[in-house]
Amino acid sequence: MKLIGLSKEEVKEAFRKGEFTIAVYGMGKMGLPLAAVFADHGANVIGVDINERVVEMINRGENHIKEEPGLDELVRKNVEAGRLRATTDGVGAAKQADVMVILVPTLTDERGNMKLGPVYDVAEKISQGLEKGDIVITEATMPPGTTESLVSILEKSGLKLGEFGLAHAPERTMTGTAIRDITGQYPKIVGANDGRTLEAVMGIYETINRKGVIPMSSIKAAEAVKVFEGVYRDVNIGLANELALWCEEHGLDALEVFQAANTQPYCHLHMPGAGVGGHCIPVYPWFVINLARKTNPRLTKTAREINDSMPHHVVELTIKALNGAGKPLKGSNVLILGLTFRGGVREFMKAAAKPIIEELKKWGANVYAYDPLCTREDAERFGTEWKEDFKDVDAIVITADHREFKELDLGKIAGEVRTKIIVDGRNVIDPEKAEKAGFIYMRVGRV
Ligand SMILES: NC(=O)c1ccc[n+]([C@@H]2O[C@H](COP(=O)([O-])OP(=O)(O)OC[C@H]3O[C@@H](n4cnc5c(N)ncnc54)[C@H](O)[C@@H]3O)[C@@H](O)[C@H]2O)c1
Repeated sequence: MKLIGLSKEEVKEAFRKGEFTIAVYGMGKMGLPLAAVFADHGANVIGVDINERVVEMINRGENHIKEEPGLDELVRKNVEAGRLRATTDGVGAAKQADVMVILVPTLTDERGNMKLGPVYDVAEKISQGLEKGDIVITEATMPPGTTESLVSILEKSGLKLGEFGLAHAPERTMTGTAIRDITGQYPKIVGANDGRTLEAVMGIYETINRKGVIPMSSIKAAEAVKVFEGVYRDVNIGLANELALWCEEHGLDALEVFQAANTQPYCHLHMPGAGVGGHCIPVYPWFVINLARKTNPRLTKTAREINDSMPHHVVELTIKALNGAGKPLKGSNVLILGLTFRGGVREFMKAAAKPIIEELKKWGANVYAYDPLCTREDAERFGTEWKEDFKDVDAIVITADHREFKELDLGKIAGEVRTKIIVDGRNVIDPEKAEKAGFIYMRVGRV
């Protein structure tokens, strides 16, 4: 059933009765939860991915995103009910679907250049199956202006914009809370090419999201919402890091100061730390920077610079702590705790551990690593050796806030290491407990 021209209420009813088909392109950490939630609310859903293993797993009713609570059950149930299936055939899916959602990676390279190949690839495939009355929605985080740049590709179908609808409805969530967020932690943001498409897309998201939808005046405004959320985080983490470095110089504990300052409702100082990783926060500022023509986004650039310099600062703290214990970095055994970029999630994109390991090795340290979500092979990929104990360790450097690290038995570890040093890049250890166990304890903003 085509949705353009229907009222929100008609769309909601058709959704629950399974009267239309949604194709979701990209069955990753965001796409699979979304597809499963759509199916669970009644729609016929086709998941499209270029990864055959992922497609086969989904068709067996298996979830491959293990960090997402509740997703195993949601995928199994909806595949069994025949509402969710997957394919590698993006053109075929477009021919069958009435609504196509694009949720493939939008990234940047090392220099911040945007890499939007997967989005354009999907748009090409959709154009080969696009029909009058279909709606194409981008949910991937898009550099503002990108969704509308797909029009020329989609119009290869022979249809003109208006005969098909185009909208942006950004995914405002993260791995581990996707189902909760998609179904109503925050309102959905939607911008569309015209009022009729906006109405239909609002009907779709109001069906699955208890918090409702915020309609935006344009697609580009909707794209800017999600990008600005990321920039806000990056700039504020940059500020927290800058103030934390200032605290180090002045003998203050940054977290003590921040926590007290944040009791005032206009102050929201973020957490300083070893750097900003992941596919989102360190990526989206580049969308703003790269698309600036007359403005110079100095603040955004500076925050990126500060945050990218934090792994180096953690190395400096490690050297300082070792020197304080009468040891040079060269020849010391450093154990990195945490290879992923954040706690509880097996994602390595821009993980702080990588530059920290590289620099420590450059200066002659013997570097080892452990991460409860990783394997020996992961450590090797980071150019280091796997180590599951604390024997002969001269410095422990924490680079991911895994729950297991918050629960470390410091008294026991103090009896195993060779030199009692903890450099806590993620603020997971209570300084008092560490010092009571005899450790030299440092973190960003407290030396
Ligand atoms: N991960 C997050 O926490 C998060 C949060 C909010 C928004 N986002 C945004 O969501 C989008 C997707 O991110 P993700 O974390 O789900 O990525 P992901 O890497 O987990 O999954 C992407 C999936 O897309 C597939 N894919 C790649 N190219 C394809 C193509 N041409 N056709 C079909 N499938 C293709 C991949 O095989 C993979 O399964 C990105 O724009 C990201 O910025 C991610």
